Amino acid sequence: MTLKRIAVMTSGGDAPGMNAAVRAIVRAGIHQEILVYGIHRGYAGMIGGDIEEMDLRSVGGIIHLGGTILLTARCPEFMTEKGQIEGLRQLRRESIDGLIVIGGNGSLAGALVLHQMGIKVVGVPGSIDNDLARTDMSIGVDSALNTALYAIDKLKDTASSHGRAFIIEVMGRHCGWLALEAGIAGGAEMVLIPEQEVSLEEVAREIKDSYMRGKAHAVIVVAEGARYNAQAVAEYLTHEQVGFEVRVTTLGHIQRGGSPTAYDRILATRLGVAAVDTLREGKSGVMVGQQGRTVVATPLEEVLEAQRPLNPFTLRMAEILAR
Ligand code: ADP
Ligand code: F6P
Repeated sequence: MTLKRIAVMTSGGDAPGMNAAVRAIVRAGIHQEILVYGIHRGYAGMIGGDIEEMDLRSVGGIIHLGGTILLTARCPEFMTEKGQIEGLRQLRRESIDGLIVIGGNGSLAGALVLHQMGIKVVGVPGSIDNDLARTDMSIGVDSALNTALYAIDKLKDTASSHGRAFIIEVMGRHCGWLALEAGIAGGAEMVLIPEQEVSLEEVAREIKDSYMRGKAHAVIVVAEGARYNAQAVAEYLTHEQVGFEVRVTTLGHIQRGGSPTAYDRILATRLGVAAVDTLREGKSGVMVGQQGRTVVATPLEEVLEAQRPLNPFTLRMAEILAR
């Protein structure tokens, strides 16, 4: 089947690099003489028919921009059959032959539904959480990691000046990848992640031990999905108990913005072009992911069912280097 019209959308939590992926998809499609349509506001825009043709100028000067020019949304309505049928109807109304969904595990679950309803769909992993399997990295992760690291380095300066312990919360939803990597890169004394059960008593012991060993400060990086969030850890650690005064910083949505790193721009471009190629090959219901030096198309069912365990060697590194 010759592809005549494809649509691209960004969905779920936005991520730096999404614009680079949209740019690559539009340019690769037009290069193959395919009309490319942009769906605004994710599945909400699909249901609302907020779909318009894009051209080369639509994606000029955006590769370095954070966020997404197509906007994004969380759309409970698309979790319903009624919403899904309306979304399908809107795609049919625009005679869309193929769809590319850029987003995280929720967005790709929506893409699978559309595939099962007969739309040719390819998913592109875009989420700062890095919780999608079958791709080494998702778009936005490297940028979010560097944003978190930039903040941790700054907080270490003031922690040292005042001799304080800083509890720093990073995003990641239920995944500890960002916290673990940022903790290692930032030289944290401890990293608390959902994947490892650590008691508050253990945290207190570790931080007091750092103090007794004469450390100028202490940094604990906490994943937002960990057993105890940053606020709970800070409330438990008293100055008298651990030696340091304690302060808390929750990085929050700053990790979702900013200009994408070179890594994310190149990953996004590579996956965007691969997504168009994959549709042209007649494939559907797959996600294109970077695996080593190659891009691999994996069935969405496999992607969404697979676990993405943290690397045991990385966990061991965090343990050793925090001493
Ligand atoms: P992310 O894609 O970043 O994980 P969400 O989990 O919020 O973000 O998912 C984005 C959107 O995808 C949701 O708001 C909803 O519209 C759609 N979605 C999520 N899960 C499903 C599902 N199981 N079936 C259909 N649509 C879904
Ligand atoms: O999935 C990306 C993410 O940033 C998570 O890390 C975070 O928990 C969530 O989105 C925040 O969602 P929202 O932007 O809707 O507040």
